Parts: sequence; structure tokens; C-alpha cells
Amino acid sequence: MSTEEKKSLNKTTTRRTFLSRLWLGLGLVALLQFLGGALAFLVSGTGEKQAVKPLFIDVGPVTDFTPGSVTLIRRGELYLSRLADGGFLALSRKCTHLGCAVAWNEEQKKFACPCHSSIFAENGTVLKTPAPRPLDQHPLMIKDGQVKIDIKTRRRRQSFKPEQLTYAVKKVS
Ligand code: FES
Repeated sequence: MSTEEKKSLNKTTTRRTFLSRLWLGLGLVALLQFLGGALAFLVSGTGEKQAVKPLFIDVGPVTDFTPGSVTLIRRGELYLSRLADGGFLALSRKCTHLGCAVAWNEEQKKFACPCHSSIFAENGTVLKTPAPRPLDQHPLMIKDGQVKIDIKTRRRRQSFKPEQLTYAVKKVS
């Protein structure tokens, strides 16, 4: 084998070694990311995001929201839904399928996702899949006649329950 051939062979081997190491490195990074994600899922127990510090914003007086209305609260990227019986519910705009922003259709009284056509009722429950669960809920409170919503916290729900509603005046049942 001539010296030129040896040099060429060496270059090829070096390139091949470099590429194998590069792939090995990339494989390791992917594996570490996967393990990190799996660990975070296990630590949280449910795969929900870790608790964040609440941040309640004042969205207006109770009287601004008529029963049976849905209002977009841009600052929190959420909707304030006041059901026909007067109960308040703060719903995340994020579709529970892949996170697109759902839009409120006032005529149909439903939320529609533009990405894969999931439909949600005014209380956030799924009327049409592929969304796997109701829209997430934000904590809400009423203080001195003002509606306040925690825009930082989102709670997953598997279904809608009446106890998720907040009333301006305690409901007598
Ligand atoms: S992201 Fe909404 S249906 Fe897929």
C-alpha cells in the first residue's frame, strides 16, 4: 500500500470514528432527555406540571358577567364561563389534545379547536374527540364582589363536577 493510500485510509477511518462518536453522543443526549422526562413524570405522580406560585388577577365585578356568558380573559389565556345557574368556572384556552387555542362560538355555545376539531361544552367537557379530557380549570375566587382568577395554576379534570363552580352567593341546596 502506498503512502498516499495509507493517508487516505487513515482519513476515512478518522472520519468514520468521528461520525460514530457523534452518533453515540447524540444517542446519549436523547437517552438522558428521555430519562429526565420520565423521572419528572414519576416525581409528579400524575404527569401534571409542578405547582407554581399562584397569581390571582382581578377580572372585574360579578355583575359584568351575565349567567350563560363566556368571556375571553386575554391576560390569562383563559375563558371565564358563567353557567346559566350563575356558577363561575375559569377554563384554560389550551386544547387538551395538543394545546392549540380553542375558540368560543357564541352561536353554538361551544368551544371549538381549530387544529383537529375537538369540541367542548361551556363547562369545558369534551363533546367531540380527539381531546382526551375536559379543558383545564384555573382556580377562581370572588372577593368583595370581584372575580379573581389564578392565571398561573391549571388543574386537570377528568370530568365536570358541580363543586368546581364558584358562586357569588352561596348556593342553597
Ligand atoms: S389540538 Fe385540539 S383537537 Fe388537536
